[in-house]
Amino acid sequence: AGFSRRRLLQAGVAGALGLGLQRLPGAEPSQAQETKSFRQVQLVAREGEIEPAPGQVSRTWIYNDAFPGPEIRLKEGERLRATVENLLPSGTTIHWHGIPVPNPMDGVPGLTQEPVAPGARFEYAFRAAPAGSYLYHSHVHLQLDRGLHGPLVVEETTPHVTYDRESNLILDDYLPEAPLPLELLAERQQGNGRGGMMGPGMMGRGMGPGMMGPGMMMGGFLVPPYAGLLINGRLPSAPAEFAIRRGERLRLRLFNPASATTFRVAVGGHRLTVTHADGRPVEPVTVDALFISMGERYDVLIEGGRPGLWPIVAATVEGNSPPAVALLRYAGVRGNTPEGFPPVAGRVLRLADLRALSPLPPGSPDRVFDLVLSGRSASEWTINGEIWPDAEPLQIGAGERIRFRLFNRSFMLHPMHLHGHFFQVGAAVKDTVIVPPHMGRIEFDFIADNPGRWLFHCHNLYHLEAGMAREVRYI
Ligand code: C2O
Ligand code: CU
Repeated sequence: AGFSRRRLLQAGVAGALGLGLQRLPGAEPSQAQETKSFRQVQLVAREGEIEPAPGQVSRTWIYNDAFPGPEIRLKEGERLRATVENLLPSGTTIHWHGIPVPNPMDGVPGLTQEPVAPGARFEYAFRAAPAGSYLYHSHVHLQLDRGLHGPLVVEETTPHVTYDRESNLILDDYLPEAPLPLELLAERQQGNGRGGMMGPGMMGRGMGPGMMGPGMMMGGFLVPPYAGLLINGRLPSAPAEFAIRRGERLRLRLFNPASATTFRVAVGGHRLTVTHADGRPVEPVTVDALFISMGERYDVLIEGGRPGLWPIVAATVEGNSPPAVALLRYAGVRGNTPEGFPPVAGRVLRLADLRALSPLPPGSPDRVFDLVLSGRSASEWTINGEIWPDAEPLQIGAGERIRFRLFNRSFMLHPMHLHGHFFQVGAAVKDTVIVPPHMGRIEFDFIADNPGRWLFHCHNLYHLEAGMAREVRYI
C-alpha cells in the first residue's frame, strides 16, 4: 500500500532534509560556505499509490511517494534549493503558494517558466521569508487535484505566542480517478457509442463533493465525483490522529490545498485560538469554528484542558456530504470512540476578527481596479467578462499602492489568490481571500514591491482552469 505513516516520515525525512539529493547536472559548483547555508530538497513527481482508508487504494500523482507531499520546513531567512524531478508523463511546475519569491521561481507555466518536461529537472531557489505556513503545489492544469501538493513551513525566530507542540492538518477533497479531457471523451463516445456522460443539468465543478453523479464538466475536462474528504490523506474510516497532553498547548497549522472544497473546521470540546491567517501573525482571537477556503491557511492554538478522544471535524459549507474527520487524542487515552461531534452553534471566525500584527501603513491607492467575478456558463469563469489567458494583464507600477475591488456576480464563493504579494484586507494581511457569493464584495490593497509577471486567480482549481485569472504585470 502506498500510504503509511512510516512511508510519509521516510519520504519527509529523505525529501525535506534533502538526503540522497542528486546534484543537478551542470549546476555550478558553489563555495562550501554558501552550500552550507542552503537547504537542499528533492521533490520527485511521479505516479504512486495512495490509500486513504485500508484497502481503498488508488493510483495518482504525488511527490516523493507521499500524500500529502513531504513537509518542507525552514527557519526564517534560510535559503531553499528545491529540485523537482519530473517522472510524470506530462510537464509540471512547482508554485510556492503564499510566500513572496522572486518572479522566475513562482512556477506559473506560460508566465514565469516553461513546464519542466517529462524526465527533466528544475531547481527552484529562494530565501524563505517571512515566516509562515505556506503550500507548495503544481501549477499545471489540474495536477494539484491529483495530489501534487504539500506543506511549506517557515519557522519564526520568535513566535508571538507560546506552544508546546505543533502539527500540520491538511485538508483535501479526494479524487479517485484523474479528470478526463473532453476531446478524449468525445473520441471515446464516437468509438463505443456510449453516451450519457455529459447529460443536461451538469453543473460546474466546485459545488463540493456532495454533487455526486457521473462527473462534472469544467474547463474542458470531465471530472469524476469526489469520493470523500480527507485530513492528512485519510478518510474518516481511518482518521489521522493529533496528539496532545493535558495542560499543553498544541499549535495546529491548517492548510487547504483542496481543489473545490471550502471547509468549516471545529474541534469537539475545544475552542480554537487563531494566531495566524495565511501565515501572517494576528492578534489572537478565540472562536468555536472557522471557514477555510482553497489556498487559505490558519494557525490555531488548542489548549489541552479536557482529556479524552475528540473529533476534529471539517464539514463542507453546503453540508451536503460527510465531513472530513480526524482525532485529537490525549496522552494515555485509549479506545476509538470519540466524544460527539462539535456543536454547529458557536462563534465562527469572521474576516473582521483578524487584526494583523504588521499591517500595511495606511494610504490612498495609486491605482484602483474594479474586478467583476462571474460565470458565463458552467465552464467559463471570468474576471470582467474575460477568460484567462486571453485577457488583458492588469498593469501596475513598481512602488505603487494598488487597490483591487472585487465584486462577485455569481452564486458561488471565490477564494481569490494573489501571487508574490500579501495584501491588506480590512485589518488582516492575507494572500487568499473569500469573496462571498451573491453580490459579495471584497476590497484589498497591496504594495507593488516584487516586480514581475504574477497571477491573480480563483483558487477553485476548476474556476482557474475555466479562465478565472488575470496576469498582474509590472509596467
Ligand atoms: Cu496556490 Cu496560483 O496558486
Ligand atoms: Cu472561483
